[in-house]
Amino acid sequence: MKTPPSRTLFLSGMDVKVYPDPEAASIAAALLIEQIVVDARAKRGKAVLGLATGSTPKRVYAHLVERHRTGALSFRDVSTYNLDEYYPIAANDPRSYHSYMYEHFFRHVDLASNRAHVLDGTITESLTEAHAALFERSIEADGGLDAQLLGIGRNGHIGFNEPCDLTPERAITLGTRLVELHPTTRADAVAEFGGMDRVIPRALTLGIATILAARSIIMLATGAHKAEAVAAALLGPVTAQVPASLLTYAAPRTTWLVDHAAARAIAQA
Ligand code: PGA
Repeated sequence: MKTPPSRTLFLSGMDVKVYPDPEAASIAAALLIEQIVVDARAKRGKAVLGLATGSTPKRVYAHLVERHRTGALSFRDVSTYNLDEYYPIAANDPRSYHSYMYEHFFRHVDLASNRAHVLDGTITESLTEAHAALFERSIEADGGLDAQLLGIGRNGHIGFNEPCDLTPERAITLGTRLVELHPTTRADAVAEFGGMDRVIPRALTLGIATILAARSIIMLATGAHKAEAVAAALLGPVTAQVPASLLTYAAPRTTWLVDHAAARAIAQA
């Protein structure tokens, strides 16, 4: 059931809607995605979604699947592009984001399998650059992303764009590429992989430039463990050390949906 935000803030030029709990924030994200699909379909006859993985968006997929099950929402004319994938990893590895998407979304809806794009964790390393470029060209050829769903890492990462020393001006030009995971990201993946030394240390990720080019960006952050990163991104300096702070470059097109716990450190703002 839809719950209105208990508070709407305006920080760094972005709307930040605060919901009482993760469920309410997730329903808001699903409804926003549905509206974007409906609008894009009306305008262009199709919709193109950038999707995210991790624990945060699971509820969003559950709601979208439910809308599909009741006949309220079809994905027949929708294309999807995922944010990232571990590297190297086989698509059918249960820890891959291919598997995640199949389990939580793809297998439950009427999305055509040739329109569901996930970066290929099996590509030969020397071909990853070409693969990333092709992924970006496919997004462009599809007319660009109508929406990009995002989560935030505890270190402020978006996708697997990790904190780095680049200037903000340079960081926002980063394209889709093979990257090394940050120690915090690896630590957060320990449960999934069953030990720090078993976490796959690299990944393919959509670039910051690619994310910022989306016509609409939906950042979903829930839980007290995200409060510090949310505050750093929204109240701190715009810096590549906190990649989510770079969303301010797409401020008018970006909406933050956060729950009370994740909003704790911005609540006084
Ligand atoms: P999480 O990851 O949803 O599993 O917390 C979010 C992210 O790292 O982007």
